[in-house]
Amino acid sequence: MTVVVGIPLEVRPGETRVAMLPDSVAKLAATKGDGDPPFRFLIERSAGRGAHVADSAYDIVGAEIVEADMLWSRADVVVTVNPPEPGLVGHMQPGSTLVGMLRSTENHDLMRKCAEQGISAFAFEAAPRITRAQKIDALSSMSTVAGYRAGIVAAEMCPKFFPMMMTAAGTITPARVLVIGAGVAGLQAIATTRRLGAVVEGYDIRPAAKEQVLSLGARFVEIALPSGDTETAGGYAKALSEDDQRRQRELLAEHVAGSDVIITTALAPGKAAPRLIDETNVGRMRPGAVIVDLAAEAGGNCALTQPGETITTDNGVTIAGPTNLPAGAPVHASQMYGRNVAELLKELAPSGEMVINLEDDMIGPMCIVHGGEIRHAPTREAMGLAALQPTESPS
Ligand code: NAI
Repeated sequence: MTVVVGIPLEVRPGETRVAMLPDSVAKLAATKGDGDPPFRFLIERSAGRGAHVADSAYDIVGAEIVEADMLWSRADVVVTVNPPEPGLVGHMQPGSTLVGMLRSTENHDLMRKCAEQGISAFAFEAAPRITRAQKIDALSSMSTVAGYRAGIVAAEMCPKFFPMMMTAAGTITPARVLVIGAGVAGLQAIATTRRLGAVVEGYDIRPAAKEQVLSLGARFVEIALPSGDTETAGGYAKALSEDDQRRQRELLAEHVAGSDVIITTALAPGKAAPRLIDETNVGRMRPGAVIVDLAAEAGGNCALTQPGETITTDNGVTIAGPTNLPAGAPVHASQMYGRNVAELLKELAPSGEMVINLEDDMIGPMCIVHGGEIRHAPTREAMGLAALQPTESPS
């Protein structure tokens, strides 16, 4: 038995990634012994174009190049990077599966359509952060790419060199970079800007981040907040009270004003991005200073951020609100995402047949829709649906 996997062309404007590169396709399509291959692949024509992969490279590893209609109607599992148009799900066979970064709490029509059509939907955003699930943690993969790209984009926008230079024309002082939020993306931004030679400070409300920031050769900004209560039992950032946020902005202000570049990545799961830089803080920054706000889509860590745009303030500060930094490194972003996808597919279909075990501690939480029911509690809440009672949960 063989599971047919479809990889469509991503149609989001500016998207360059593809859900799987030929290396991951080749590994999954390899036959074990004499039997059928566990997976077979349908690749939409030109799906790899943005990541510089020709159709022929998929063809060589045994995938079939097809048009969109055939892909959506014949695949047992369709894997996307971005949430697809709900209409496309209408072409899928009942009982088939959709996998991707589906943003289920925002894409209500898509989730409704999956339920109506009898499609099982799995979202990487909902993957649990347990050790076993690290191999399928596509959000961390994409945060890694985004953090790296943020460092490069910031260096490009900064009117100064990042490194110190001793030249015949005198000594050039290094640029000062402040990275706010030292999670996966922030640590990668610190590492990248450090490699480029900048003097880097990192800040996070989680005390555990200090050691990681220091290990990358950056300084850690220590800020004691009135409540002192910043971390959940699971090790994630808490959404701060208005009072704590105000205090945080005041104490960060001096570091903000002294920076040539600020990269902000602060997020608290399921909440609007914390406001860490207000208009007054920006007003005190130097002309030519740069803010790259990775939290733009979640409302921005800077009050002046416009998602998807780059603006320059009256005092000459440039603020970028990129919404798809991973698309700036499509080869490695697609490679990392595709490896996460491959690991998930192996879990979902261990021997040539889909086995959806919702009791599994990795698979269960990622399941947004199954058996005609929207099961994921945060998605139900966002859609205004009542919580499922344990007895109602379809197994
Ligand atoms: P994220 O993208 O949700 O947030 C980014 C960073 O912003 C976090 O470090 C958070 O502490 C920080 N932050 C939130 N509010 C802030 C505020 N008001 N001021 C300053 N900083 C603020 O987080 P991410 O990068 O996804 O990971 C967060 C944690 O999860 C880290 O400890 C990471 O090591 C851990 N993690 C664990 C994994 C696993 O066990 N499988 C996988 C990935 C991450």
